[in-house]
Amino acid sequence: MSTDAPGGDLDRTLNDHGDITATQSWQALAAHQPHVFAMHLREVFAVDPDRGRELTVDVGDLHIDYSKHLVLRETLELLFSLAREIGLEEHRDAMFAGRHINTSEDRAVLHTALRLPADASLTVDGQDVVHDVHEVLDAMGAFTDRLRSGEWKGHTGKAITDVVNIGIGGSDLGPVMVYTALRHYADAGIRAHFVSNVDPADLVGTLADLDAETTLFIIASKTFTTLETITNATAARAWLLETLGAGEEATAKHFVAVSTNADEVAKFGIDTDNMFGFWDWVGGRYSVDSAIGLSVMAAIGRQRFAEFLDGFHQVDEHFRTQPLERNAPVILGLIGLWYSNFWDAQTRVVLPYSDDMARFAAYLQQLTMESNGKSVTAHGNHVTAGTGEIFWGEPGTNGQHAFYQLLHQGTRLIPADFIGFAEPTDDLPVTPDGAGSMHDLLMSNYFAQTKVLAFGKTADEIADEGVPPEVVAHKVMPGNRPSTSILAPKLTPSAIGQLIALYEHQVFVEGTIWGINSFDQWGVELGKKQAKELLGLITDPEAPAAQDDSSTDELVRWYREHRGR
Ligand code: F6P
Repeated sequence: MSTDAPGGDLDRTLNDHGDITATQSWQALAAHQPHVFAMHLREVFAVDPDRGRELTVDVGDLHIDYSKHLVLRETLELLFSLAREIGLEEHRDAMFAGRHINTSEDRAVLHTALRLPADASLTVDGQDVVHDVHEVLDAMGAFTDRLRSGEWKGHTGKAITDVVNIGIGGSDLGPVMVYTALRHYADAGIRAHFVSNVDPADLVGTLADLDAETTLFIIASKTFTTLETITNATAARAWLLETLGAGEEATAKHFVAVSTNADEVAKFGIDTDNMFGFWDWVGGRYSVDSAIGLSVMAAIGRQRFAEFLDGFHQVDEHFRTQPLERNAPVILGLIGLWYSNFWDAQTRVVLPYSDDMARFAAYLQQLTMESNGKSVTAHGNHVTAGTGEIFWGEPGTNGQHAFYQLLHQGTRLIPADFIGFAEPTDDLPVTPDGAGSMHDLLMSNYFAQTKVLAFGKTADEIADEGVPPEVVAHKVMPGNRPSTSILAPKLTPSAIGQLIALYEHQVFVEGTIWGINSFDQWGVELGKKQAKELLGLITDPEAPAAQDDSSTDELVRWYREHRGR
């Protein structure tokens, strides 16, 4: 792909579709919804028996079945019309070309460039993006090769065994999620740890098990001004120097940085030769595939990291080139929007049947909710439709014994994404003479849950089993609860890259239709500023007790009293 976007390419006409609810397609969907509402998935499958085979889409290694959704083929047509009417394809192309679709910050949005192969070409704002990306990847590769081979030595001459990534939000959630998912690929004896919270329990608990001589800290912060990260990094440096009984010179052997802000990195005392950069066109929550993934590369090596990036790229290419009707992120994003805006669903649950993906829902929470938790359009007008699905979830089967009761028999509609793998990362026989293995048992639960959610069990079926009449109503499984089933052959570096990109582009699809800017996050700023002001108030015994609203004043007074101030 070769695209040359001129500098200063902020185009305020981009994605301006006014009141989305006034569009013809939106109104057609609203008129159509009661028709679908009146049907049950049992009936939908009965009249359209091929949908289980046909309402599927394959991308990369992922096989995606969206047949168990509360959509008819006609619903899908209407959703595609909506996407076309608001210019989804044009907006997608604008993103890939590097136009400044992040309007409030006047920035391109180019996480897709982080996974372009070295022979691709993309010049944006006069910058040869592919060259820059691969220059950093090469530097990361050279550095992690030295770490993994033991050539990089700590201050006392010992090889590094543990890396601690200090970062928060996008500078933490991606690396920790991917490292956890790919623990089987950590083949060089480098363990990664992650410290994010400004609660000192996080850092203290992590350092308790580490040997300063063999520990390297990666300070990961796009801005390098984030309070939590700089505070933890400063405390980690104090611990290192004190434990080693060393002077400042030890820092260079035990601290590297990942940032876009070389000045702040230098000010902190990290040699900028040991800094791995990225660019303002990579949002924090879209950055695990940038240098922010350094801890992952240290654990799995540069070749596996390249496979991880290739996984993203496969889905990028699919999203960029496939018609809407066969485009997985488009289909799933539109279905998500269908429930949000036409069924009043508030949340989507993500259920990986993989313990290694324990952090996936937490990762998706930032990706989706920091992106699409907006109430004004990209053009500054109040939105006219609800935005921002609430994502949550836990790995199966644990969730089954916690919250699935509400999914099955509660009053709320909660669309579910099931994710599972054919080949296990670990496996054990179930019992000496049992059928299959523990992994088969896990996956039998995956299939059972999607089936029960969709089709349930009627009162008649339950009564026929001899259940006392007064208990029948309690045992009825209403069904008609929608889910997507995502299957992949194995949880590989490529598969996890594919899954992340699948959700990144769903966020884009929904955000584009809602007409919001999915790439800024102004809503997190005021809290940060007020925390700084309140720090002065809660730590200074001379500060006047009352300054704010009566609730905050009273809470601060109570805290100071119990803190002895
Ligand atoms: O507070 C939100 C946020 O800005 C996220 O968007 C970002 O991922 C996180 O903070 C960390 O920011 P940084 O990488 O600049 O430290």
